[in-house]
Amino acid sequence: MSIIKTIINTQSDNFVENRDFYSERIKDLHQRRHRAHAGGPEKARKRHTEHREQILPRDRIRLILDPGSPFLELGELAGDNLPEGTQAGASIITGIGLINNRQCMIIVNDATVKGGTYYPMTCKKHVRAQTFAIQHRLPCVTMVQSGGAFLPEQEGIFPDEGMFGSIFVNQIEMSGQGIPQIAIVMGSSTAGGAYIPALCDEIVIVRGKGFMYLGGPQLVEAATGEKVGHEELGGAEMHCRDSGVTDHIAEDDAHGLNIVRDIVRNLGNLPTQRWDVAESVEPLYPIEEIYGLINKDTKVPNANREILARLVDGSNFDEFKANYGDTLMCGFAKIHGFEIGVLANNGVMFSESAKKGAHFINLCCQRDIPLLFMADVPGFMVGEHAERGGIAKDGAKFITAMCSAKVPKYTLITGGSYGAGYLAMCGRPFKPNAMLSWPSGRSGIMGPEQVANTLATVREDILKREGKTWTEDEREEFKAPHRKRFEDSEDAYNFASKLWYDAVIDPVETRETFALLLDLAGRSPKVDTKFGVFRQ
Ligand code: COA
Repeated sequence: MSIIKTIINTQSDNFVENRDFYSERIKDLHQRRHRAHAGGPEKARKRHTEHREQILPRDRIRLILDPGSPFLELGELAGDNLPEGTQAGASIITGIGLINNRQCMIIVNDATVKGGTYYPMTCKKHVRAQTFAIQHRLPCVTMVQSGGAFLPEQEGIFPDEGMFGSIFVNQIEMSGQGIPQIAIVMGSSTAGGAYIPALCDEIVIVRGKGFMYLGGPQLVEAATGEKVGHEELGGAEMHCRDSGVTDHIAEDDAHGLNIVRDIVRNLGNLPTQRWDVAESVEPLYPIEEIYGLINKDTKVPNANREILARLVDGSNFDEFKANYGDTLMCGFAKIHGFEIGVLANNGVMFSESAKKGAHFINLCCQRDIPLLFMADVPGFMVGEHAERGGIAKDGAKFITAMCSAKVPKYTLITGGSYGAGYLAMCGRPFKPNAMLSWPSGRSGIMGPEQVANTLATVREDILKREGKTWTEDEREEFKAPHRKRFEDSEDAYNFASKLWYDAVIDPVETRETFALLLDLAGRSPKVDTKFGVFRQ
């Protein structure tokens, strides 16, 4: 047992100032979530509840989940402020919750946002939810009420991989792998919106409300001249009695959700947990103190050892190679009883830290221990000394180990995570099981000031070549828009909006979130790691 002892004075001006600053950020996070949870405009919500007498999407989720079940939402803030005009959440809600004691991926069209149609970000979010479900072998419950493609954005929805068609690809992949898929058609579901349920194992449809057709009445009339009503073309009676497209008729939303609960009850044995889970022990120091440990001045690195002391069970961190490569802290810890291998930055990555990290990842893979990358890294060391020391081959070793590792991997961006450092700490392209950030998380190729300086230097060289010069003010004027652009881009909410992060979480939610994620991963089969070539 190696308990991290704090050396922080929580009464100091600096701590209090940082804590107050971070508390404002947390308020902002909750306001953003609140906006996302509202769904579509008031008019559309009223039409949904009063005119159609339907239950709002988030209430549908509450009804289908077991009482008291958590709902781990993915992509809650996806789509916010995108130029394509989608609202926060991107007209779909995705997340994991318990239905009859079984963890399920729940995917819900929000018909109050442009008829539940699919924007480019909606497609991406649906695909991401499926990818998570495949990785964790989670049954998918899809509540369908969608007008299909959001037509003005067809180029971002239709032609390519990762767009709408990939939803079908994933459905068929899941089906082949024996991952159950259940759909409930709760409203008008047109075109792609009809194929999604059609590719599921079992379909419930709500009488008088759910309609499912490849083309709606207006389209049919325009295409063939045939005049036909919604019920005859795609209603519950027709599909359950004549076409056989759907399997169960529900009298209303609530009844339908109950039928889905019954279907989930009949999915067979619950998956068992493959890891020993110890009794959970709270950290020795309050988790809220993390707010005061993140400096409001982004140039000051985070006190990551102190942060770790407030995240892991009993503040116990069994460190590996504590005296070697100390800019990457590696060690074993527990979160709510689940063992994890932690890799947390403590400055720039050097050759030693990279080699140590690769060794540690290797150990975790041998022992089937999941990896948590706590990313807060300015990058890899540059300069002649580092290059002669072989930083390129040592960085490559680390990246090879991280990428090859098939144990569950999680990334938590706590501070500025830049360049190859962002990638090496299991950035999005390396497919961590979940990619999370605190509101203080920032990611980019470089920091905004470095980008502005680099571009200014390039410009300056060109000016010199042309025999010209510029003043300090002109240089600053040139730099300002680049700096601003990268400040906006590196922001955690920009990453969340583009779904490069699965979620932005409050530091105090971190332990519960990881406990849930680890429980899910432990209920899916172990995958063996086959390491690639390590350049020596
Ligand atoms: N593409 C783009 N926008 C669409 C859309 C689509 N496929 N379907 C609906 N919308 C928009 C509407 O223009 C409206 O926008 P507004 O709020 O700016 O006025 C909004 O979504 C809500 O549509 P509305 O018809 O008022 O809502 P509704 O709840 O009564 O009906 C649908 C929703 C989906 C049943 C209905 O709009 C519809 O049938 N849409 C066409 C579906 C279709 O044929 N899709 C084929 C896609 S391949």
